[in-house]
Amino acid sequence: MASDKLILRALAGETLPTPPIWMMRQAGRYLPEYKATRAKAGDFLSLCYNPELAAEVTLQPIRRYGFDAAILFADILLVPQALGADLWFVTGEGPRLSTITDARGLEALKPASEIHDHLAPVYETVGILAKQLPKETTLIGFAGAPWTVATYMIAGQGTPDQAPAHLLKQENRPVFDALMERITEATIAYLSAQIEAGAEVVKLFDSWAGSLQGADFERYSLAPMQAITAAVKKAHPGVPVIAFPRGAGERFAGAHAAIGADCIALDDGVDAAWAAQHVQPAGCVQGNLASRHMVTGGDDLVRETRGIVDALSGGPHIFNLGHGITPDADPANVQLMIDTVRKG
Ligand code: CP3
Repeated sequence: MASDKLILRALAGETLPTPPIWMMRQAGRYLPEYKATRAKAGDFLSLCYNPELAAEVTLQPIRRYGFDAAILFADILLVPQALGADLWFVTGEGPRLSTITDARGLEALKPASEIHDHLAPVYETVGILAKQLPKETTLIGFAGAPWTVATYMIAGQGTPDQAPAHLLKQENRPVFDALMERITEATIAYLSAQIEAGAEVVKLFDSWAGSLQGADFERYSLAPMQAITAAVKKAHPGVPVIAFPRGAGERFAGAHAAIGADCIALDDGVDAAWAAQHVQPAGCVQGNLASRHMVTGGDDLVRETRGIVDALSGGPHIFNLGHGITPDADPANVQLMIDTVRKG
């Protein structure tokens, strides 16, 4: 399936002379135009559920920088909300959800097959983007991986160590496993609907994979992502999957095969030269410049960017940050990174 789109070529395993580039959280608060549109929408969730405005903020970084991919503007926590959890965002603090800590909480959730009415505006956003994006730009849909989504559903907020989820896993394994299963089913349905609406690639964010140890890493990070990838590919053969088991460390080696993903996204905790040797032989890799360079800029940014491009130049590579760009980033540093990747 030859394509003119550079991201799709890299995902198919092609080594390109210059890696295509996009950036996690590329639509975000570091951009004045994002802040203006968000103010128009009201709060963050109203922006996520407004197809016109969500499409607008998705397009803003494409217009400003000409990234090779656009990522749907939404959030991983829309799935728990579609399953019936309460969700709100506290300005300056982050997300809050009603918590699930026992069988009663689990029973109150909706079946995975009933998420679509709630998520219909997201599918509408995807449809608008599929029509409006430049023809060379790839549209990426996404969802949170089950473990990461479960950590928020159980704790009701972000936590530094995911202790509430680890505790439920330890003390009430049947409820924990049933919650993981529900999220897995909902994620398959959600990603399939995004693809049907026009997403060309899907990405799974397992932001807290690094807190899973030993056999738990396989059972609760790799295995659910593998199940989702297999089901999505069965329903939609040929759609590439990117998986991001953030914090996996040496366990990034072997992740392509364990998940069945076309691409593994690396965080900045792994050395690019190590990844070239131990991860990239199995397929495309994405990453992995530290986000702080978007704040600090200068010679360090240029040197680190060149180092990553060079280290991964022998195989398929999509340039990205190792995690999302932060609100204090300077938009000029993003341009410097792009120029360094594209012009050397
Ligand atoms: O990358 C993109 O540009 C696409 C949109 C996107 C958002 N969130 C928008 C967003 C994506 C792919 C996500 C994923 C997401 N959301 C993750 C996984 C990736 C990661 O960062 O580890 C997680 C854990 C979440 C949950 C979440 N959403 C948190 C913890 C927060 C608060 C922290 C923060 O940055 O404020 C959010 C809010 C959020 N999601 C914002 C954006 C642009 C900021 C909200 C705002 O505009 O006020």
